[in-house]
Amino acid sequence: MTKSLFITNAAQLITMAGHTDQPAKKEAMSEVDLIENGSLFIEDGTIIEAGKEEDLRQKYSDRLSSVKHIEARGKVVAPGLIDPHTHLVHAGTRENEYAMRLQGQTYMEIMNAGGGIHATTRATQKASDEQLYEESKKRLQQFLLHGVTTVEAKSGYGLTLEHELKQLEVAKQLQADHPVDIISTFMGAHAIPMDEKENPEPFVDRVIEEMIPEVSKKKLAKYNDVFCERGVFTPEQSRKILEAGKEYGLIPKIHADEIEPYEGAELAAEVGAISADHLLKASDKGVKAMADANVVGVLLPGTAFFLMAEFADARRMIDAGLAVALSTDANPGSSPTISLPFIMNLGCLKMGMTPEEVLTATTINAAHAIGCADKVGSLEPGKKGDVTIFDVPNHLTLSYQYGMNHVDTVIKEGQVLVT
Ligand code: NIG
Ligand code: FE
Repeated sequence: MTKSLFITNAAQLITMAGHTDQPAKKEAMSEVDLIENGSLFIEDGTIIEAGKEEDLRQKYSDRLSSVKHIEARGKVVAPGLIDPHTHLVHAGTRENEYAMRLQGQTYMEIMNAGGGIHATTRATQKASDEQLYEESKKRLQQFLLHGVTTVEAKSGYGLTLEHELKQLEVAKQLQADHPVDIISTFMGAHAIPMDEKENPEPFVDRVIEEMIPEVSKKKLAKYNDVFCERGVFTPEQSRKILEAGKEYGLIPKIHADEIEPYEGAELAAEVGAISADHLLKASDKGVKAMADANVVGVLLPGTAFFLMAEFADARRMIDAGLAVALSTDANPGSSPTISLPFIMNLGCLKMGMTPEEVLTATTINAAHAIGCADKVGSLEPGKKGDVTIFDVPNHLTLSYQYGMNHVDTVIKEGQVLVT
């Protein structure tokens, strides 16, 4: 199949150029570099150049003559969307807990009673490799159909060495079989097993002494994530686990200050995490520390929406100099969605972000949150030809019309996958 394409006449070609070395902060989050009537040349899967059709035709006349042509008149051409925080690989669903929450029970009450993450852990432990693979593959395909070309995927529903490895192996197999790129994160510290709640230290030790070394040896993950939250992992335990991961080459990430303020943002800055995620209750001090330490803030408004909680204050964070990315947090408990475009709507409507900022947050800043901004996140020469074409006349419409799938075409490394 051809991996070379010439896309022409886009109503708007959004390149997101200029933020490959550093994530965009403050006003730079609004600089989406937009070419009207734009065209894009991809050759052998790699972006050659974005610009005006006439200019590109002149410059590359010999190379363009035999290339497949896509006419994007009236449409928006953007970098393939990037989801930097998902719990892609898991078994089962938890609609029963949704019903319980609608009756007034809280997310943490359900988890502390043995449901929540524990329920999905039981289902994931029980699932065969094939079942886990098939369920997760369906979700991955849905991501693609909604314009996403790269996702991060966490383990954390295994909670034993065997089952954490099983989740990560499934992610690896999906990476091999499915065109969407997967960046893997080990999250053995997602919950303390129910029968160890009273005495969690042995579990923390197993994460550090058994799981991290094996995950690292098998090269199954690039990142190490911890759910730092009252009643789950304390800041001290989280620090220990993240520092141990660093010894084995795993870069820290952290679920921080989601339900209560717990100094997770401060910890992210201290350990040099690449991102801290959630941040609904992050302190001003923590946000400032993250901004100074160049930690990306990954905000997950689907979680606040679905848990009926207060949204993270993205406006305050961006104004304070934090580089913000957005993600679905796709998981069966706190955010059962794969729709990153819906998350863009929520970013604008519920967190005070502008349409330009949400684009930055789901492309180049999302790429920075998972360490792949050198390869994806913008339509610049040398990057992968990962492109999503939306059937909307301008980028504003993307965060205006909500709950709809505007995806027209998805291209991965120059190949048309969805049309
Ligand atoms: O990011 N907060 C912790 N973990 C997930 C939820 C996982 C679940 O409920 O299954 C999250 O919200
Ligand atoms: Fe999460």
